[in-house]
Amino acid sequence: MKPTIYVTRRLPQPALDRLAEVFDVEVNPEDRVLTKEEIIAHVRGKDALLCLLTDTIDAEVLDAEPSLKVVSNYAVGYNNIDVAAATERGIPVTNTPGVLTETTADLTFALILAVARRVVEGDRIMRAGEFPGWGPMYLLGHDVYGKTLGIVGMGRIGAAVARRAKGFGMRILYTSRSPKPELDVALGAERVPLETLLKESDFVSIHVPLTEETHHLIGERELRLMKRTAYLINTARGPVVDEAALVRALREGVIAGAGLDVYEREPAMEPGLAELPNAVLLPHVGSATVETRTAMGVLAAENAIAVIQGRRPPHLVNPEVWERRRGR
Ligand code: NAP
Ligand code: GLV
Ligand code: GLV
Repeated sequence: MKPTIYVTRRLPQPALDRLAEVFDVEVNPEDRVLTKEEIIAHVRGKDALLCLLTDTIDAEVLDAEPSLKVVSNYAVGYNNIDVAAATERGIPVTNTPGVLTETTADLTFALILAVARRVVEGDRIMRAGEFPGWGPMYLLGHDVYGKTLGIVGMGRIGAAVARRAKGFGMRILYTSRSPKPELDVALGAERVPLETLLKESDFVSIHVPLTEETHHLIGERELRLMKRTAYLINTARGPVVDEAALVRALREGVIAGAGLDVYEREPAMEPGLAELPNAVLLPHVGSATVETRTAMGVLAAENAIAVIQGRRPPHLVNPEVWERRRGR
């Protein structure tokens, strides 16, 4: 008999095909996020769970099936999963890093360019038939080329954004937990304290994971440290930024603008944000290309399959679980 897996949302077909080679696959047939109660009901009797960043996987879900063997997240970020609870229960948690790095960096750059050059405002004006004709002072933005980019969290995606910025002749500042001497050399990047980065950057781009430490890392105080001509870009996780403070800062001209792909309480957004012309707002589409969503699905499948076959998965979030097993 094949092992069983529950998949909380329909994924690109190659991922489901790969899963079906090993598992009896049950997929949520509806195009919506399931409630926790629904996930619990479906996890019962399954060997594996493949879930999304919109699914909250806490101790209650993990306890729904005592023989649950793996939780495979279809995302690189795993703040939706209580990893400590999974580790306590000896359940490997996996994610999908790498395959979405370049795609998310592309989207980050799209936001940088769109907000600085007022691309979305211009598009709206054209569609509304409101273009008065070319003017020397008409719809002026700010240059991207040659400016200073501050990368908060110089990991895979942060570094991919920095590589793009180098092509735009930008000076690159960054924060990270550990130094990155190879990037300092390759990109001429400079690791600085967050406060320096905020004060000196023309674009501040967030690329840290959401953790207890990074929750509201950017709040009113940090926004006030930024230049009045600077832009905040967030393609990481909404709660890293205090969204209410950001709306006030955008309204009062504390900063020039913001480009956002993620929000504090998705799919909702802070009241007032939608009315601000100096914000470019995208619906969490950082990794949303056919190529990348397929690659994420296949990787999430490979992660789950590896665990079920007793192999260390390609991307294990809680390696302690594996070390403990080997020690037994
Ligand atoms: P990553 O390679 O793990 O990079 C994270 C970086 O953040 C690392 O450089 C890390 O420092 C740094 N960091 C962690 N905590 C920090 C802190 N408290 N202060 C300063 N720096 C800190 O992750 P990634 O693959 O680039 O992905 C980053 C995040 O992007 C994901 O967690 C996810 O939430 C988000 N994401 C969003 C989308 C989207 O659709 N919008 C798509 C993909 C990913 P060290 O290098 O020193 O460890
Ligand atoms: C997307 O937001 C991810 O974390 O993969
Ligand atoms: C890398 O993701 C690992 O810990 O296997």
